[in-house]
Amino acid sequence: MQALADLDLPYLPVQDPAFGADPMAHFAAARRQHPWLARADIGYFVHEYTAMRELFWMDDKLRPSFDGIVAQLGAHGTPWGRFTEEQMIALPVAEHKLLRTTFAARFTPRYANALRPMMRETITGLLDEWVPKGRFDFEEFASWFPISVMFRLVGAPVDKIAGIKTDLETLGLAFSMDKTRMPALQQSIQRLDALVQDLIAERHRHPHDEAQQDLLDIVIEAGASGGISQRQLADLIMFFFIAGYDTSKNVLTYTMLLMMQNPEAYRRCAEDVDYCRRAIEEALRYFNPGTTFRFTDQEIIFRDVVLPKDTMLFFPLSISGRDPDSFPDSERFDPERAIDPNARHIAFGLGKHMCLGQYIARAQLQESLHLVAQRIREPQLDGEYGWRPFPGTWGLKGLPIRFSAG
Ligand code: HEM
Repeated sequence: MQALADLDLPYLPVQDPAFGADPMAHFAAARRQHPWLARADIGYFVHEYTAMRELFWMDDKLRPSFDGIVAQLGAHGTPWGRFTEEQMIALPVAEHKLLRTTFAARFTPRYANALRPMMRETITGLLDEWVPKGRFDFEEFASWFPISVMFRLVGAPVDKIAGIKTDLETLGLAFSMDKTRMPALQQSIQRLDALVQDLIAERHRHPHDEAQQDLLDIVIEAGASGGISQRQLADLIMFFFIAGYDTSKNVLTYTMLLMMQNPEAYRRCAEDVDYCRRAIEEALRYFNPGTTFRFTDQEIIFRDVVLPKDTMLFFPLSISGRDPDSFPDSERFDPERAIDPNARHIAFGLGKHMCLGQYIARAQLQESLHLVAQRIREPQLDGEYGWRPFPGTWGLKGLPIRFSAG
């Protein structure tokens, strides 16, 4: 048995802005020094795919450490701190279970599939507006898609999209652990809260009939029957906005980069929506934006190492699919890759907090890739791209492209 403090662990400078440009190289070096664990100034990083899975299956011994993140950022008692500590994913076990059982039954593949025509209409509208430009920043284009879908899902006024998009951008960077972002974060969370409270109040004043039912009605109705408080209801809708925005945008943007590097796969995506499903699953293995975190809720002995209670563990899901021990030829992007049931990507997490919006996210990504590939022909890189900070919602910062219009 070994004490955590006695291990000779590699150090990861995750807060160095340069880290986000090449985390894979840092993690590859870390793997050579220790098979599954590294240390950073903000906690420990579990970097092996199978170790992440094994620990997530012990999630009754872990608890989401949003309070720890809020404390590290000195934000306790602020509007952003309150939201972060009380959002669905951060709640104590019983409260989380109530919310999860109230809403999970509604977030089915069938519900996501029923939204596909609306998703196609939304992406077509955006493509009609953007494609005639012939060149643009694909990240900027991609940023309009998930938020436009979300606005339609809850019947929010479209003239508010641009403002809230900027706020969601700010909120998505919260977990990059940079205290200088705090004033902007506070303003953004308050604006989002006001938007959501207005939406709920307006819906109570003007209820929809059955034919008009949307996600907001579903959530209000389920919340009322499940005894969910008004505050929790508003927090949940705010969480949907935040959870679905730059995750989906960053995956779509990185997928475009992969497609430019694999033009044959891109051509097939234009023709075959089923192939888009495979391409998106492979893209989520190759790249995903998330790093999640937990405190050990009790002492845990894992692979002969004693992890004391309240150890802060980070799980960089974003790099998990490139672990060469679990994914043969892991650096090769291949939508035809055979999927090993014991080594599926974990872009949507695992265990009791696994992404509630995963079917909606998949449907959005598949539909958009199919239509983008039809309308944005032969895309080429048209300048430099950059990287977003790690371990926040990681991904590309800007992706300038030029193309011929289809
Ligand atoms: C590609 C897009 C997305 C990715 C990669 C993603 C990823 C994740 C991950 C990794 C988690 C688990 C976090 C943890 O265990 O700490 C999660 C949770 C969650 N996600 Fe997503 N997500 C995406 C899109 C969405 C969308 C579109 C929605 C809502 C419409 C959504 C709603 C949620 C919710 C409600 C949870 C918390 C579930 C719980 O605590 O029980 N996500 N997501």
